[in-house]
Amino acid sequence: YIIRSAEFVKSGTNASHYPEPLKSEYLFLGRSNVGKSSLINAIVNRKNLARTSSEPGKTITMNFFNINDEIYLVDAPGYGYARRSQTQIAQFQAMLLDYIQTRESLKRIFMLVDMKVGATKDDIEVYQSIRNAGYVVTILLTKQDKLNQSERSKNIQMIKAQLNDAEVEMIPTSSESKRGIEKIHTLFEEDLHE
Ligand code: GTP
Ligand code: MG
Repeated sequence: YIIRSAEFVKSGTNASHYPEPLKSEYLFLGRSNVGKSSLINAIVNRKNLARTSSEPGKTITMNFFNINDEIYLVDAPGYGYARRSQTQIAQFQAMLLDYIQTRESLKRIFMLVDMKVGATKDDIEVYQSIRNAGYVVTILLTKQDKLNQSERSKNIQMIKAQLNDAEVEMIPTSSESKRGIEKIHTLFEEDLHE
């Protein structure tokens, strides 16, 4: 898949703000600071299209990016950020759940898991609830560059076990080294020709 254009379209917190559901959409889901916004930038080969930060909690709305006027990538706020108020945590959860349950153009859910940290309790809960709801999830393991070779294979096995799913599709990625980006482009291409 070749990125010819990438532009920010809209931000929003409920369906009335979102763009018309006319293009295949890819949701980037994961805990705060896992690297969702950075990975979107790496995928579209732009430094700062999605705003990133070393402080967790940077992204607070659903942000839609139009790629090639063909697909949308959706950057979501992270879950599991302890310094948010209970009210805000509940609001983000409701927003994500509503999006996942009702968005007709949702093509694929990318769930990002930090390859060094492994799956957190929140990751495991979210993974199970979206699997139970019948969605196919592709796990993107992030920050692969932080690990050496033996840690990489060890942690892949660990995360499979944590998610309790031997069949799960997992792609190791790094926004720094660009590892895995080509595989994600290939998924877009395959989805288009489905
Ligand atoms: P929220 O918007 O708060 O939910 O976070 P996010 O998931 O969008 O994370 P973001 O992309 O803002 O990245 C968080 C931090 O992780 C930043 O300091 C990034 O530089 C760093 N980071 C992201 N991807 C990688 C990676 O592949 N390798 C390394 N080493 N660091 C990364
Ligand atoms: Mg972000």
